[in-house]
Amino acid sequence: MCGIVGIIGRRPVAPLIVDALKRLEYRGYDSAGVATLNDGVLDRRRAEGKLGNLEKKLGEDPLEGRIGIGHTRWATHGVPNETNAHPHFAGDVSVVHNGIIENFAELRDELRAQGSEFHSQTDTEVVCHLIQRELENGKSEIEAAHAAISRLQGAFALAIMFRTNDDLLIAARHGPPLAIGHGDGEAYVGSDAIALAPFTNDITYLDDGDWAAIHRDSFEIFDEAGNPVERSRQKSTTTAILVEKGNHRHFMEKEIHEQPEMISHTLSNYLDFSKYEARPLNAAIDFGTIDRLAISACGTAYYAGLIGKYWFERLARLPVDIDVASEFRYREMPLAKNGAALFISQSGETADTLASLRYCRSQGQIIGSIVNARESTIARESDVVFPIFAGPEIGVASTKAFTCQLAVLASLAIRAAAKRGTISPAQEKAFVRELSETARYTRMALKLENRIEEISRELAQVKDVLYLGRDTNYPLAMEGALKLKEISYIHAEGYAAGELKHGPIALIDDSIPVIVIAPHDRIFEKTVSNMQEVAARGGRIILITDEKGAATASMQTMETIIMPDVPELIAPIVYAVPIQLLAYYTAVFMGTDVDQPRNLAKSVTVE
Ligand code: M6R
Repeated sequence: MCGIVGIIGRRPVAPLIVDALKRLEYRGYDSAGVATLNDGVLDRRRAEGKLGNLEKKLGEDPLEGRIGIGHTRWATHGVPNETNAHPHFAGDVSVVHNGIIENFAELRDELRAQGSEFHSQTDTEVVCHLIQRELENGKSEIEAAHAAISRLQGAFALAIMFRTNDDLLIAARHGPPLAIGHGDGEAYVGSDAIALAPFTNDITYLDDGDWAAIHRDSFEIFDEAGNPVERSRQKSTTTAILVEKGNHRHFMEKEIHEQPEMISHTLSNYLDFSKYEARPLNAAIDFGTIDRLAISACGTAYYAGLIGKYWFERLARLPVDIDVASEFRYREMPLAKNGAALFISQSGETADTLASLRYCRSQGQIIGSIVNARESTIARESDVVFPIFAGPEIGVASTKAFTCQLAVLASLAIRAAAKRGTISPAQEKAFVRELSETARYTRMALKLENRIEEISRELAQVKDVLYLGRDTNYPLAMEGALKLKEISYIHAEGYAAGELKHGPIALIDDSIPVIVIAPHDRIFEKTVSNMQEVAARGGRIILITDEKGAATASMQTMETIIMPDVPELIAPIVYAVPIQLLAYYTAVFMGTDVDQPRNLAKSVTVE
């Protein structure tokens, strides 16, 4: 999603803004721009595509000025081209924006009728014109910004600069996050603390509905009604060191390889390896006594939640209601009186997940979140945060966050089961022992990389792929399909293996590889029957199983990937590795932009 940066400095700000925008690249974008104010003149450079294109323009035609705003744009209204790229201008006003102005068409008609001329197809340009109108009506810059912001509907974060004032930036938050950074005679605005880390770790987050007038040496924050409010300053723990790829070709490859270490680190925070027990949890959610658990998330985090449902229900006999957050937030589902709700999000900023959280809060649920970004809005609005310790995830395709989310969910399910008395102390120890082996097995799975690379060469030739799995490997099949789609652009679907004959089997012919995720477990034989059905129709099977599974299935496959023999509990975590590698290498053979695939954003802060 769009990234915002603003700086009022004592030195030329354009290069600083570009550096900060680089730190927001992980969010996904398709154009970028910077505007500065110099000697009473607003000027800008904008470019379609990567930040390198913008840097080239700035190199050829630099921007002077000690105050400026910058933006990476992920297109919502209007195609990604230079004209639609931010910052937008109207008269004395320049604006960058993340989000969607829902009433922009109505406002644009009104402004056009008053003589405003629009140059882009964006919703953002109405904000510039609206503020400019208020200035022309005699309002001060701060009054004009407030009057205009009050008329906007939707979700937005804004940074606003005026030609007439080189010591003022306005920042406004209505949905997507915005942070103010405090420096020594300098001030900053950014979509997150990561962008501001090279300049300061002294951060004030705006609350939803807040807007702020920021000067070099001071700032004032106001609520929606315009009343001054105090917001706490905090020391951000975000590192200023830009995360590098190291020896890896892509961040995604690096992040896949980091999994054993990150999973270990995550588990050590939830499990006591000396006693083989799940560690006691923050008491805000008493997993021992709650009647139901609701889980909501999007994309990969949702698939992690689905796997978590199997664990909570099977081990702890705790019923779980789960839905994707974009449905959950509007379903008005009844929630248990004595219930808790868990929200899973790598970024902690996903708009739909946050809205589901707020729905559950309004229904009196205790709120827990499983997040990677501990300073995120979802974390801050939770009663209890269960951090994953995955470190920064830069690749748009989530990999290590997924397996670390699973590590946390498995740990919570074991703890819940122990507290509810649905497993004995001896069983708890056995499960914790199994979980403690995850990193080792994951490392073994990574050794299959060369073999998986070879198989991916063939996958890169096809148009469609089907993934099948049962039990916890069913959500993993959907995750596999999502991974392949998002980075290789090959059409893929994940199905419950037993569902195949209820429709999708009609698709089977020798052009569609069918990837079957099937460790030799309780229900392996059932999956073998489904594979027979595929084989009988000429389907080409890529079987991911263990030695025992390969021997028992004894059938002709296109390829068989032999995994280590792992306990059933941790299979979806370990089997995630070949699934991720298959998608990764297929995308590499397709020559796509693996880390920043087309049309995708890392942090989805609009609905
Ligand atoms: O930051 P979140 O975990 O809330 O993001 C949720 C989804 O947008 C995310 O998992 C998305 O599906 C990934 N691109 C998947 O690889």
